[in-house]
Amino acid sequence: MSTIRSVLFFISLLQCALKWPVVCDIRLIQGVNSNMEELKQIIYMFNEDSSKICFNVRTAQWTYATNMTDRNKKIMINEQTRKANYDKLSWRKVVKYDWQLMNDTNLKRQIKFIIISSRASLSDEKYNEIYYLISEMKDIYNKIRICPFDDGFDEKCTLQLEPDIKNIMMHSRNPDELLHVWNEWHNKVGPPMKNKFMRYVQLANQAARMTGFADAGEQMYSLYETENIEYELEDTWRTIQPLYKELFTYVRKKIISRYGPDVVRPDGPIPAHLFGNIWAQDWSNLKDLVLPYPFAEKLDITDKMVQSGFNALRIFQIAEEFYTSLGLKPMPPEFWRYSMLERPKKKTAQCTTSAWDFCNGIDFRIKQCTEINTESFVSAHHEMAHIQYYLHYVNQPYLFRDGANPGFHEGIANAIGLSIFNPSHFRRIGWYKNGTDNYETNINFLMIKALEKLSYAPFAYLVDKWRCQIFREGVENMNSAWWDLRLRYQGVIPPSPRTEQHLDAVAKRHIPADMPYMRYYVALLLEFQIFESLCSAAKHRGQLHSCDIYRSTSAGQILEDALQLGKSKHWKDVLKILTQGKTDRLSSHSILKYFEPLHAWLKIQNVKEPLIGWNSSLEDTYLYHPVVRSTASILSFKSILYTVGFSFLLINII
Ligand SMILES: *[C@@H]1O[C@H](CO)[C@@H](O)[C@H](O)[C@H]1NC(C)=O
Ligand SMILES: *[C@@H]1O[C@H](CO)[C@@H](O)[C@H](O)[C@H]1NC(C)=O
Ligand SMILES: *[C@@H]1O[C@H](CO)[C@@H](O)[C@H](O)[C@H]1NC(C)=O
Ligand SMILES: *[C@@H]1O[C@H](CO)[C@@H](O)[C@H](O)[C@H]1NC(C)=O
Ligand SMILES: *[C@@H]1O[C@H](CO)[C@@H](O)[C@H](O)[C@H]1NC(C)=O
Ligand SMILES: [Zn+2]
Repeated sequence: MSTIRSVLFFISLLQCALKWPVVCDIRLIQGVNSNMEELKQIIYMFNEDSSKICFNVRTAQWTYATNMTDRNKKIMINEQTRKANYDKLSWRKVVKYDWQLMNDTNLKRQIKFIIISSRASLSDEKYNEIYYLISEMKDIYNKIRICPFDDGFDEKCTLQLEPDIKNIMMHSRNPDELLHVWNEWHNKVGPPMKNKFMRYVQLANQAARMTGFADAGEQMYSLYETENIEYELEDTWRTIQPLYKELFTYVRKKIISRYGPDVVRPDGPIPAHLFGNIWAQDWSNLKDLVLPYPFAEKLDITDKMVQSGFNALRIFQIAEEFYTSLGLKPMPPEFWRYSMLERPKKKTAQCTTSAWDFCNGIDFRIKQCTEINTESFVSAHHEMAHIQYYLHYVNQPYLFRDGANPGFHEGIANAIGLSIFNPSHFRRIGWYKNGTDNYETNINFLMIKALEKLSYAPFAYLVDKWRCQIFREGVENMNSAWWDLRLRYQGVIPPSPRTEQHLDAVAKRHIPADMPYMRYYVALLLEFQIFESLCSAAKHRGQLHSCDIYRSTSAGQILEDALQLGKSKHWKDVLKILTQGKTDRLSSHSILKYFEPLHAWLKIQNVKEPLIGWNSSLEDTYLYHPVVRSTASILSFKSILYTVGFSFLLINII
């Protein structure tokens, strides 16, 4: 027995060393108890209990989200605490076993997910400390109020992120006001969190190491079950970058013509306050500056819907019909009975749109304050895609009732979204007249999509790249590391000088809230990969962006085959099904194909530009690099790091 085990151990090590696509569980924490029958019972019980606990938590969360009273909040927090306690105790039970011995691969996979997604290796004291820190940081984040730009008389400093800051960034075209708001938000949110964040990093790393990981970043990425995931991701970014740079260059030209040459150099990076979004992550609000053909017809069905006397129910019925036309499932009766499809009149509700799985196999709901407009129409379809996913993996064990990897749920839902918000689909459901399919409306359409999706790619990519770098390399110079990445990937610089007193990364809520972010980048790639594959199943001809999979049962079949697996199989197997055997890798091929017509158009627009993309001057980096250091040597060291950067980091990961 023990010789067999050491041979197995050796083979696994070898596989890890050679980076074969296997999961190197071998380092994960395990105990000595070899009674596998007992462990099996524990996992069965865990499934049973967890489904019930999850139901209680969801019920309490729903009650609060649809009726925000203090009492309901207290009940919700209670249930959440009970769940956290249960999960922690289960983890500690499971790691007493030598679970690698488990010969049922399905159960072994479940055990692995219990182990890798927890910080229960910490002592109770530290475990409570880290979650208390996170809740304190979220509290700080939620309570930040900033002063208005024009504080003439006795204006109060009461502006919040939502909706005030968001609205100013969206609508204001006064660069001084934008700068003021950007500074206020970043200067207020970072400094009070810095010490807490540093302690959080320390504790998260401790938890990760005691679970068997090198650091908390490795633990975060372990959910992807792919040893070289960082390499796979960097590879996709490398190929998207040329297209991003064309978009960036065109947008910079328009920003210069709006704000003048003093604000941005013609070959330089763009200051972060000018994108219509506090994080410069979504440039949709620059539509008015950059829309190629302002007078071409807009893709909008709001008027049509209003004229036809639409209500929320009707919108969701149409969405349901989209899915049944693919051969997928209708919504169950509980969905129609319990969902919140409109803003309630007698109570205060959280209006963020979301899709809910109550973990009992019966109850699935959507919460949306539906308004009669195009956006609500599209998001009804989007949320219902999540419900389809829930309905399809309903028979999986609790731990497998989830997307194949953290990007899948959003990837699937957005792939469907591409088929909905689309001139062809609107035409097919009879709301859009025929004569509008011309070059100008297509380029406009692709530009709007690019401002939303393509502009987001580098940001989605760099957030967790930064976080992992901090987990791996420590909390020295966190802020300059953040801006190094933003300059390198987004071409964005801070609009005012930054120091290490600041911590601008926490301006994005997911950082203080301890929520992983790479999933959004993965979802972006998957969205287009899945869309292209479904379109080929639907025998679509012509440009990719005009594809509509409505009524294609072949596309529906592919979705059904993939969704029912949940997380029971490695996501690469699921991706292979979704791409009809073509690939099991994340790839930028489809997103590039989707934007091909726009890419060609942008190249023509940019011929006279001095530089496609940006080069940075010392002035740019002085904005945020600690001045005490000898800047020259640091800069050259940085640039060496950049060129060899990636392979260098990979060696460290193993
Ligand atoms: C909202 O919740 C409170 C309990 O906190 C309850 O008394 C009240 O009836 C609820 N309102 C509605 C409309 O359900
Ligand atoms: C956690 O659960 C255990 C066992 O159910 C219980 O004894 C303990 O009091 C709970 N702790 C908290 C903080 O709820
Ligand atoms: C798995 O292990 C159990 C004992 O724990 C044994 O009874 C069973 O035959 C094994 N199954 C396989 C497929 O090896
Ligand atoms: C609209 O265009 C489609 C092809 O794009 C064509 O099949 C259809 O007959 C046209 N309908 C009308 C009303 O012109
Ligand atoms: C940026 O590139 C342009 C050429 O496109 C060059 O003239 C300029 O000096 C460069 N600036 C920096 C800071 O390297
Ligand atoms: Zn979603």
